Amino acid sequence: MKIKIAASILSADFSKLGVELKKVKLAGADLIHVDVMDGHFVPNITIGPEVVKFMRQSTPLALDVHLMIQNPAKYVEVFVNAGSDMITVHIETVSLKGLQAIAKRLKRRKVKLGISLNPGTHLAKIKPALGIVDFVLVMSVNPGFGGQVFMPKAINKIRQLRAIFAKDIAVDGGINSATAKLVKQAGANILVAGSYIFGAKNIKQAINSLR
Ligand code: DX5
Ligand code: ZN
Repeated sequence: MKIKIAASILSADFSKLGVELKKVKLAGADLIHVDVMDGHFVPNITIGPEVVKFMRQSTPLALDVHLMIQNPAKYVEVFVNAGSDMITVHIETVSLKGLQAIAKRLKRRKVKLGISLNPGTHLAKIKPALGIVDFVLVMSVNPGFGGQVFMPKAINKIRQLRAIFAKDIAVDGGINSATAKLVKQAGANILVAGSYIFGAKNIKQAINSLR
């Protein structure tokens, strides 16, 4: 499978978002990963739909919107309207029925649906959802903040998932050139990285080393 690199905008300099978006595009990023946090599902508050709207105007890259929020169904529409190309919701925040309803709405709008699970959530929890979603986002840190250390137990989860799931597997949290190698070997093909990319002296080199 083709490896895609998603630059997590959470680690960018927000005073010049447009410049940062151009920089990662030039350096070869495939996707822009947008971390939406509500201060309830995770202990941090970040980006809302208004910012996504301006990002949409500032980059041709696909916007991969990661909803770390309670009651995602309530906000899916507004993030679609803001210009999301992919939307991920957490299994810890939706029922299967709720997810089916979200899937229907996103399909109509031609937006891809991902399901994510926290490091502490067993793979069995997402199994009933695998037939509904376009991709899975495996968390390799507890969501909430950029710059955390990769949790190695994600590797087994990715390997087990790859054995039963043929579509895209993304991994998010603590990705650098060393952990990228491990998750690719395990079967992940979308790598989300924030601090490793935006903290690099040479962003192009950083992205190439992940790929
Ligand atoms: C964590 C977010 C990640 C984060 C990754 O809650 O979902 O997308 O930005 O940042 P790094 O790559 O620095 O771990
Ligand atoms: Zn994320």
